[in-house]
Order: sequence, then C-alpha cells, then structure tokens
Amino acid sequence: MSFSRALVTTFALAFLAIANVAEANDFAPKAVALLQERCAKCHGADKGAANLRLHSAEALTAATEAGTLVPEDAESSEIYTRITLPKDDKKMMPKGGEPFTDEEKKLIADWINGGAQFVTLEQPAAEAPAAEAKPAEPAMQEEAKPAETPAPVNVAAADPKLVEEVTKLGGVVSPLFADSPLLTISFPTAYEAVDDAALDKIVALAPQVVSLNLAKTKITDAGAAKLAALVNMERLHLENTAVTDAGVKPLAALDRLVYLNLYNTKISDETLATVTSGLPALKSLFLWQCKVSYDKAKELMAARPTLEVNLGWDHPGVVRDRLTKEVERLKAELDAKTKAVTEAEAKLTEEKKALQALEDQSAEIAKQLEALGK
Ligand code: HEC
Repeated sequence: MSFSRALVTTFALAFLAIANVAEANDFAPKAVALLQERCAKCHGADKGAANLRLHSAEALTAATEAGTLVPEDAESSEIYTRITLPKDDKKMMPKGGEPFTDEEKKLIADWINGGAQFVTLEQPAAEAPAAEAKPAEPAMQEEAKPAETPAPVNVAAADPKLVEEVTKLGGVVSPLFADSPLLTISFPTAYEAVDDAALDKIVALAPQVVSLNLAKTKITDAGAAKLAALVNMERLHLENTAVTDAGVKPLAALDRLVYLNLYNTKISDETLATVTSGLPALKSLFLWQCKVSYDKAKELMAARPTLEVNLGWDHPGVVRDRLTKEVERLKAELDAKTKAVTEAEAKLTEEKKALQALEDQSAEIAKQLEALGK
C-alpha cells in the first residue's frame, strides 16, 4: 500500500516541522506584545533610538544582523541584558520606565532561547507591505500546538480517504503528536482555494480535528457556521477572512475551544456577547483590528478572568491605558521631586539660621574680648 506509506511519511514530516516550531513559539505572542508595549515608542516605527527598532519582523531581523538580538542565546542578546540591569543603571531598558518583572524577564529569555520565533517564522516579503506600521499578525506566531487543553478525547483514526480529500485541496494535515488520531489542519499556501463548499471536506473529519487554520481563506459566515460540527476543536484561526459576528455565533457551543483568532475581521461587540455566554474553555481571543469597543472587551475580561482578550497594542483604548499609566508614573515622580525640593529648602533655611546663630555668637564674644582689652 504505497498510498498509506506516502501518507504516513507526509504525516511524519509535517509533524517534525510543527514540533520544532511549536515549543519555542508558545512564548512569541506574549514576548512580542511586551516588546511592542514597553519598547516600541522609542524603538519602533516612528523612532529608532540607537538605530534599534523592535516593532516588526524586518526590524527584528535587522537587530539580529546587528547582533543586538542573538536567537537561542538570551545572555548574549543586548535586548535581554539591558532589561536585566538594575533600575539605577543608566543603560537599563526600558529607558526611564519601570524595570521588567522577573516574570517578564523570563518570558523574553525563553522567547529568545526558543529562537526568537517572530523573526524566523514570519516571512515578510510581498505578503505584508504595511508591516512597518503594524505589528505581526498573531496568526504568524501561533502554531498548531494547543497550550492548555481540556481533557484529551478518545477518537478513532480518520479514514485516510477523507484525509486525502483535504490534502487535495492544498491542506496540510498532521497528527497532533506522533501516532495521535487527532489532527491539525492548515492551508499555508492554498488558502485562496478554500471556500464554504470546501469546508464540507473538513467537517467530514469532525471527530479528529483539534486545530484548524482557515486564515485568509474565502470562507463566509455560512461556512463558519458549519464549523460548529467540529466538536473537539481546540484552536481555530479565522483571521483575515470575511467572517462576521453572525458567523461566530453558531460556534458558541464549541466547549473545547481554547484559542480563537479573529484578527482583521468585521467582528464587533456582538461577538463579545457570544463569548460571554458560550465558549466556556476559551483562554485566548485575538481581536486585533476589529470593531470591538475597549470597554466591552474589558467587561468581558472582568467577567471571565481566565480569558485574555487581545485587542492589539495599537488599539486606541490600549494606547490610552498605556499613556494614562505613563502620566501616572510621571506624576508620581514629579510629586516625589517636589517633596524633595521642599525638604531641601526647609533644610537650607534651618542651616542658614544655624549659621546666623554662630555668627551672632562669635560677634558677641568678639565684643566681650574688645571690652576686656580696654
Ligand atoms: C524612552 C525611550 C526608550 C525606551 C522606552 C526604550 N529604550 Fe532602549 N534605548 C533608548 C536610547 C535613547 C538608547 C541609546 C542610549 C543607550 O544605549 O543607552 C537605547 C538603547 C538600547 C539598546 C542598545 C542598542 C545598541 O545597539 O546600542 C538596546 C538593546 C535597547 N535600547 C533595548 C531596549 C528594550 C529591549 C526596550 C524595552 C524593554 C527599550 N530599549 C526601551 C531609549 C529607549
């Protein structure tokens, strides 16, 4: 059976590729977001202090070429050593800001030691002409490996014929781990060919699919609704598609879904409501460049503390928060300085008084001496 042997080989190769990137990649979204938040205002699109920019894949590649970032070696990466300096060190980064917490330092170290995947994974090229101004798509940094997942499911292996149907569409179908019947499916190059009708081929594998990447495909709300049949799915990428709130609504019952990416879609606050009442296992919701209001997203996060709603570092609400914090920090610093000045002034007045007293005393003695001399 040469067909099934070929299939097994395809599985094995695809799995190796995923195994390599997945582990290192887990840190990437958070690490990159942290650098955007804390460093990009000085090392970003608008400003490149010390010729260093950290806001895009190209910029990080340049930093690697310059030796400021050494993938797989945090200790040799100045990006890391600078954030580990003591607060009073002039070279400490973020310059003038709060030092990183131990947790944040570890995140950056792990990310660099894992290969600083943002750099090696993202293929900038023709795909993203606007990359200068916008951060990397979260999709690029996330791969097939589910992070924390609900208890594993027991399913039979998929019918190889059904798998082949998806492969024929240009899909890359891989087992979740060696010998697992669970499948991850993505369309790294053939996304243009995937439309609502094509999804029937994926739905045919419903019990086995745990991770599905439909980014940039031609699917619409009608297709998205079909995905409700993928009851074991834990990760779903729908970014850069025509999907709207109406397409997400039928997915509310997916009770194993941990990760949902809706970056750059027409999603609005309605989807936040869907999530509030559904998707009980959801931990990560990517809504960069959607029409979601900041206050509603915050309400959802308050209602679901284990859920992280990521609006992107350039969302006006997120920017407002960041600037407000910065103003608060500066105000605290100003208050401390004002107090120090007041204290110094009081001290000066006191010292002047003491000096005057000494002068008076010595004048008095001089007078007495003069009187004796007569
Ligand atoms: C308020 C502005 C500001 C912020 C925020 C900031 N930097 Fe810097 N950074 C500078 C300036 C100015 C220099 C050049 C002076 C120096 O080397 O200390 C610099 C230099 C550096 C250098 C040395 C580059 C070289 O090749 O000489 C590194 C690495 C660096 N920053 C990393 C970071 C990281 C990582 C962050 C975020 C955690 C950050 N910076 C945040 C202003 C900033």
